[in-house]
Formats: sequence, C-alpha cells, structure tokens
Amino acid sequence: MDIKEKINLLKQEKDAVILAHYYVDDNVQEIADYIGDSFYLSKIASTIQNKIIVYCGVSFMGESAVLLNPNKKVIMPDKNADCPMAHMVTKEQIDEVKQKYEDVAVVCYINSTAQIKSWSDVVVTSANAVKIVKNLPNKNILFIPDKNLGYYVSKQIPEKNIITLNGYCPIHQNISVEDIKELKTKYPSAKILVHPECDKSILALADCIGSTTKIIDYATNSENKDFIIATEIGVKYQLQKQNPNKNFYFPTHTPICDGMKLITLEKILNVLETEENQMSVSDDFSNKAKITLDRMIELSK
Ligand code: 13P
Ligand code: SF4
Repeated sequence: MDIKEKINLLKQEKDAVILAHYYVDDNVQEIADYIGDSFYLSKIASTIQNKIIVYCGVSFMGESAVLLNPNKKVIMPDKNADCPMAHMVTKEQIDEVKQKYEDVAVVCYINSTAQIKSWSDVVVTSANAVKIVKNLPNKNILFIPDKNLGYYVSKQIPEKNIITLNGYCPIHQNISVEDIKELKTKYPSAKILVHPECDKSILALADCIGSTTKIIDYATNSENKDFIIATEIGVKYQLQKQNPNKNFYFPTHTPICDGMKLITLEKILNVLETEENQMSVSDDFSNKAKITLDRMIELSK
C-alpha cells in the first residue's frame, strides 16, 4: 500500500476529513477532501460532520476551525506551521487607537492568533473584507494586522477612515515590482493577478486583486492565455489543473510560505495514526474570539 492509500484508509477508519489551503504542496492538495482559500475553509470547518479534521495549513487556520466547530478534534500535521503576520499586533497598539477614536471598530484579518481575534470586533478574510467593512456602521476602522490588505480596503471604501498599523506578510511583501515589470515586458499580453497582501506598488500594477480563490477564478474565466501571478507558488497547482492550456508566470524570486511547506504526506499519516498535535484555544479568550469569527460568517452571507 502506498502512503496515499494508507492515508485514505485511516481517514475512513477514524472518520477524519482533510482540509488544505492552496499554498500547501501539490501532493498534499491531491489527497485533500476540501481545498480552498481561508474563507472557504472556515465555512467548511464550521459545518463539518466528521469526528476529526486534519488541517493542512498554518496554526491560525487550525485555531479558527476549533473556534468555529468546538466539538471536533482538529489536528495539525505540523505544530510549527505558523504565519508570522498572525502575531504582528499588540493589545497596547490597539488600546492606543481605541483611546483616540471612541467609535472605532477593530477589524481583524483571519491571519491572526485567536487571542488577537478576541481583542477585535469582527474577523475578515481577503475574500470578504471589503463587503464586511463597508457594511459596518462605524466610520473609524482599525484594520489589523495586515497593513497591505488594510490599504487595499481603504481604497475601496474612501468614505471610511481606515487606520492600519505595521503588520505584513513577509512572503507577499518581498514580491518585487521589478520582477513583475520584467515578466510584463516578456509577456506583454499577460494579465497581472495580485493578492491584496502585496505592497501597494504591486497592487498598482494589477488587472485583478483578490483572494487565492478570486485569482484562480479570474484566470479560469478569462479568455486570456498568459497570467502573471503575485502570490504564493502553491496556487500554481490549481491554476494549472483547472487551466492546462494557459500559462502562469511567477516572480523569479519565488514566493514560498515556509509554514505551509512544512505539511507533508508523512506528517499527515503520522497524525492520523497518533492523533497528536490536537489544536486548542485557551478558555481565557476562546469565547470572545469565537464571537468575532461567527460574526464574519454571519456578515458575509
Ligand atoms: P487567502 O484567504 O486568499 O487564501 O489567503 C490566505 C493567506 O494566507 C494569504 O497569504
Ligand atoms: Fe502567513 Fe504570508 Fe504564509 Fe499567508 S503566505 S500564511 S500571510 S506567511
């Protein structure tokens, strides 16, 4: 029996389901039951009936699954799979802004720890941030932790005062304008598809800005043949699978998320066997964090 067959067998025996983000390795995406962006995976995690969720992603995703579906056992193939941006804001920073603006709503990108979510009013993902912020009654919005997504949202909703701090995704921040411009010179008819975690200098070059799902859908529905993609390399697997006759060009300094790449088939098999690495969220802030996530699911309907 090969490793994929072993995983499938154990999955059935243990009533487990595998969720995977688009950034994990191709062979992990191949065996997943559900693959998607953060928003899709959150919705799936909140409704799953199986006993065990094996979450092939980084820790904030596993935590969110625990909060959205507290009676399930959520296990992570690698405990060290983390997102650096998820930690890039402090309570003191938030309190400082709250003191300045009485009516401020704290909007928290899902790429954040459960504790940071508990200090917030509502969670968003890159797929629903504009819609949710637009519909909030507050004029003043503190958008944490991602300054780049916050900037993108502020451009879409100029009537709101959107305050950002200093968080960012190192992988998206490192995508260079020169790289994208060089690709555009080489492939002039290519459309440039950009994740909103990129710097504003990259956003300015984009034909389409959106979540990983939006990028894949845009490429799939477009008549164009060539695309320059400014996000993590893992999405190439789905782009190519759904569009075998189209060309996808990534920056030469390949954007690779180290946390996502820690997930391997061997580790998935191991946690299915041992049920180790169960994700949990401290009682100190789980109730408050859950409210912010449930609010996202409600407001994005
Ligand atoms: P998506 O919500 O678009 O999947 O993005 C998640 C992420 O971590 C981007 O870096
Ligand atoms: Fe975090 Fe960036 Fe990795 Fe996304 S790509 S999980 S934001 S480090």
